[in-house]
Amino acid sequence: MSTGLDNLQQEVDKRRTFAIISHPDAGKTTLTEKLLLFGGAIRLAGSVKARKASKHATSDWMEIEKQRGISVTSSVMQFDYNGHRINILDTPGHQDFSEDTYRTLTAADSAVMLIDVAKGVEVQTIKLFQVCAKRGIPIFTFINKLDREGRSPFELMEEIEQVLGIRSVPMNWPIGMGRELCGVYDRMKNQVELFQGEDHSKIEVRKVEDYNDPKIREMAGEYLHDQLCQDLELLDVAGDPFDLEKVKRGELTPVFFGSAVNNFGVQTFLENFLQLAPKPEPRRSTSGLVEPTNEKFSGYVFKIQANMNPAHRDRIAFLRIVSGKFERGMSVKHVRAGKEIKLSQPQQFLAQDRDIVSEAYPGDIIGLFDPGIFRIGDSLSQSSEVVFDELPTFSPEIFAKVTVKNALKHKQYQKGIDQLTEEGTIQVFTTVGFEDTLLGVVGQLQFEVFEYRMKGEYGVDVQLQRMPFQFARWIVADKVDPSKFRINSTLVKDKKGNYVVLFENEYAMRTAMEKNPDAKFLETAP
Ligand code: G4P
Repeated sequence: MSTGLDNLQQEVDKRRTFAIISHPDAGKTTLTEKLLLFGGAIRLAGSVKARKASKHATSDWMEIEKQRGISVTSSVMQFDYNGHRINILDTPGHQDFSEDTYRTLTAADSAVMLIDVAKGVEVQTIKLFQVCAKRGIPIFTFINKLDREGRSPFELMEEIEQVLGIRSVPMNWPIGMGRELCGVYDRMKNQVELFQGEDHSKIEVRKVEDYNDPKIREMAGEYLHDQLCQDLELLDVAGDPFDLEKVKRGELTPVFFGSAVNNFGVQTFLENFLQLAPKPEPRRSTSGLVEPTNEKFSGYVFKIQANMNPAHRDRIAFLRIVSGKFERGMSVKHVRAGKEIKLSQPQQFLAQDRDIVSEAYPGDIIGLFDPGIFRIGDSLSQSSEVVFDELPTFSPEIFAKVTVKNALKHKQYQKGIDQLTEEGTIQVFTTVGFEDTLLGVVGQLQFEVFEYRMKGEYGVDVQLQRMPFQFARWIVADKVDPSKFRINSTLVKDKKGNYVVLFENEYAMRTAMEKNPDAKFLETAP
């Protein structure tokens, strides 16, 4: 007879929770949609498309909120495939890139890095990769748009290593590229997947002995087969062998080639990914590692979405389940607040209409109705001791000085700033000496959200004046002298009173580091 614990173990084993990291236009929407279609989550796939249609729209926040009716419901997408339950965490790009994008990555157990074959590793991919690399989570690479002329696979592998500092191991290898593309050779299974039909929509799989098999010559022609043999011989000799342990530690990324829009290589990728990607991992807390199979329910809030429904001004706190089974209506301890709360209206973001979820397991994400009681990083647990490690903060890159238009509103202004900082909407700094308030963000949208919410929720009109800084570094030193940070930089304090230097450019930052060899300059708060 299966016990509750066996059941929990099974539910954990079948889950895979990951995020797709990429630069805009690499094909994330397309790939997500194809993945969802494999799982039969067709309703949602439509909504992914709808979001895409609106993604180039105005950057006005209200517009984005309107679109959120669609995009927010796809913040987490869940589907089943081959006995697995898959959660894809959406990492907003384009104009809605924000700290939430980074924080979402802390809720993923692995990441899929999507790269455009013609463009290689791009800026936003680098930023998102670094957040994943810091956590040491496994990263799987999908090189997309093989139906177009692109860069050589070797060149891309080299770039991945040079720019991201991770070795790669191709799991398959393209046979031709662009107009000549006829398929891929699967190095693990020794088989050829052939493209067929005008639009490459049909795929035929043929088993071969190895890449020298003359059958490939018949299928692909002499020229492409010779090229394939040359490439794979080189890889066999000089490339890294597949090593699952290294993949798990995030030191080696398995690389797959394909074309999302043509659905080519997507299924193979999904199947390999499900086999190799980790199930929900234990998470560190003040009372040690919390295993997913721990029967006591626990989880943490990694994102708070405000005003999802303007009529209700509600907020949704996104909770990543770490351990145990979630059941609707259950009472849990809100550890920071020291209160028992009842989780009665949890939502899952499966479809356009928010579904009420009645049970969920480690790896799943649930949305909790939040009347203003949650902060980013809050732990909920059935046993009161569990407090998960704090979520990291991320180095802001865009700064603005904020002032209140009507001085009489100062109290509400302060309250708004305090609350929105706690929620993680913005980071706030105070200049040393002048006591000016500066806001720091990673995406322009965060400023718009801030302005809009200050007015809507606190009745305060604010003025934002962009500052020329681009980098923030927390400085750890015996003594900090503000006069040293006046040229193309300024000294500020964060909300906890830590010293932070803001720099206008990399040169100023490097110079400051050279001139202060005894000080440490950290990208995030110590
Ligand atoms: P994103 O979410 O990462 O921003 O990318 P998205 O999926 O929206 O894809 C960006 C563009 O790249 C889209 O073209 C999409 O059709 C195209 N694309 C995605 N995968 C492939 C592929 O494998 N091969 C080729 N050739 N193109 C691909 P678009 O012109 O912006 O939109 P659409 O009019 O084609 O829909």
